[in-house]
Amino acid sequence: MVVEVPKIQLGNGQTMPIVGLGTYARKAEPGQYRQAVEWAIEAGYRHIDTASSYHNEEEVGQGIANAISKGLVTRQELFVTTKLWNDCHAEADVIPALEKSLARLKLDYVDLYLVHWPVSVDASGEDMGIDYLETWRGMEEAARRGLARGIGVSNFNADQLQRVIRVAQIKPLVNQIEINPTLTNHELVNFCKANGVVPIAYTALGLLSEARPEFAGKDVIKTDAALGRVAEQHGKTRAQVVLRNLIQRSIPVIPKSFTQSRLAENLDIFDFELSPADMDVVDSYNINHRCVPATGFAKLKNYPF
Ligand SMILES: NC(=O)c1ccc[n+]([C@@H]2O[C@H](COP(=O)([O-])OP(=O)(O)OC[C@H]3O[C@@H](n4cnc5c(N)ncnc54)[C@H](OP(=O)(O)O)[C@@H]3O)[C@@H](O)[C@H]2O)c1
Repeated sequence: MVVEVPKIQLGNGQTMPIVGLGTYARKAEPGQYRQAVEWAIEAGYRHIDTASSYHNEEEVGQGIANAISKGLVTRQELFVTTKLWNDCHAEADVIPALEKSLARLKLDYVDLYLVHWPVSVDASGEDMGIDYLETWRGMEEAARRGLARGIGVSNFNADQLQRVIRVAQIKPLVNQIEINPTLTNHELVNFCKANGVVPIAYTALGLLSEARPEFAGKDVIKTDAALGRVAEQHGKTRAQVVLRNLIQRSIPVIPKSFTQSRLAENLDIFDFELSPADMDVVDSYNINHRCVPATGFAKLKNYPF
């Protein structure tokens, strides 16, 4: 069954499927990204999230090309996002970096190009201290040239986002940030929405994910009875309840999976409705705990957290 995923409108009129495929993995076997993209498109995913720093754009692009050549989808039906890494923040470096991403993806344009982090480092990890307002000018030029249909940011805090909005000729359409039951992030989400910026949730499964055994002990959402009861009442899994909570907060989400059954599970969230009490259960796990604190960037100018 191919699921039809609802779309959300961005500030420039583009529409983006509210669930997309995340593609970051710490480890992957050769072919795993390509396979996940092909399975995802078969299941109904039309939105795919990657980044130059994931070192998987070639495989993601191959998955897209295979799906198009099999006739599963057209390029126009897909919404593809990639991101600018921190070592290309000088204005003159933005378009060359995007052109390299496009070549790896085998695409003429991306639907969305994001500044991955507000921090800038050189190849050896030294702080370059580049103001992200300079970077934003390069992003605007990428949009003007049609290499990116839309542009946005990721991991920007409210003050940083505000600074960009104040001077932007082309406003950021989205801010991709961590949101999950232990980091509900209501304040930043509200700030984004109040300013016409769509928040996108990454690491949405948070401590439910098998990928984070290091948080053993904090991972009550895997076992807590209250979330289990909500899932059982709706005949869904805990993961589906967590993803549905975001959809009902009008927050697009990009869960990653290499597992075919989970790819389908994460899309099967449009046939039930959480009650206000169910929504409160998911919210009740908030402890402002970051799965992605990026502490390696903590000493850099413009570290956002
Ligand atoms: N902008 C940024 O700085 C930033 C940071 C982090 C992530 N992201 C983006 O957001 C995407 C999602 O974040 P993420 O990959 O960190 O975390 P996530 O999507 O919350 O979790 C992925 C993990 O959960 C497992 N999983 C998937 N579906 C599941 C289900 N239904 N039940 C139980 N476990 C499930 C996956 O395992 P299997 O693969 O084994 O199925 C994988 O280990 C990334 O892939 C990336 O595209 C962006």
